[in-house]
Amino acid sequence: MTAVASAPAKAILFGEHFVVYGKPAIATALKRRVKATSTMNDVGEIRVRSMLGYSRIPLPCTDPHLYEHDPHKHIIFSAASVMRLLNKHVGVDILLESDFPYGMGLGASAATSVATIASVASLFGSISRDEVFRLSLEAERLVHRNPSGIDSAVCTYGGLVLFKDGRIERLDEKGYDSSHALRFMIVNSGMMKDTGSMVMKVKARGESSREEFASLAEMSEMLTMQALYAIMCSDLARVGELLTLNHGLLRRLGVSNDTLDAIVYTLVKNGAYGAKLTGAGGGGCIISLIDEARSSMLFDALCNYEAFTSSIEDDGVIIHTE
Ligand code: MEV
Repeated sequence: MTAVASAPAKAILFGEHFVVYGKPAIATALKRRVKATSTMNDVGEIRVRSMLGYSRIPLPCTDPHLYEHDPHKHIIFSAASVMRLLNKHVGVDILLESDFPYGMGLGASAATSVATIASVASLFGSISRDEVFRLSLEAERLVHRNPSGIDSAVCTYGGLVLFKDGRIERLDEKGYDSSHALRFMIVNSGMMKDTGSMVMKVKARGESSREEFASLAEMSEMLTMQALYAIMCSDLARVGELLTLNHGLLRRLGVSNDTLDAIVYTLVKNGAYGAKLTGAGGGGCIISLIDEARSSMLFDALCNYEAFTSSIEDDGVIIHTE
């Protein structure tokens, strides 16, 4: 018996890092997906294959410490916790196939756990999206200790969203007309980032410079709320300007670097409305808001980097029938 589910990549447009401290953030699902194919096995193991390698852990996998150094720890944990929830204890093979890079700020760890939870659940029955979100957030806690939940939420529910205090609001449900589709270009810096260590670095920064951190957090909130207004009015020039301002703020926070700054500069110089690092920073991807008519010029200007364009992906997790 085999079950297949997929979940989209995500990009944070405004408010990363400060969202961990309860400030609002805006994020979108992207038209790139990771697919999880789950098949029952009779060897009593959870076995995972992905571009990160191959892992096999004997059931019942109840203690995550036993596999804490495994690159698939969040996948093993996701599969084990969904089986626990559904009171099933059988071996499962999980194959993960992604058309976006891992470790680059596009939510691969959340998307892989969301797709895994949905596919393993559909081997035995079904679970609600809210349960998928909850279990994925628990799995994300293995990846970094204090996730805001924004990655799991976008990968589960899809769309363009406002996220605050663990709650997600889709902007189309607040009246955003998605026919005014925002067009994004995503550029991969090629530098792997580590979300956990960037979140810890920001925490240390907050503890050592409390006042500055508080004023950066205020500014992040202000930018995000102004961006929300500009998005609702389809004022692309303003959204772009705010994106670039948000990059400056993240730079000040200490999560950018020369490579990321140079990509932002190239995008803006070549006619993007605006650009910024997306996600934890320290490497990973840049997201920019572009006019489709300028995309070939932008691809040329960034020909040394892997890049793709995307609009908003409306669908979150999808169960595919075989
Ligand atoms: C990571 O994609 C986004 C961060 O804000 C961490 C989080 O929200 O959990 C850096």
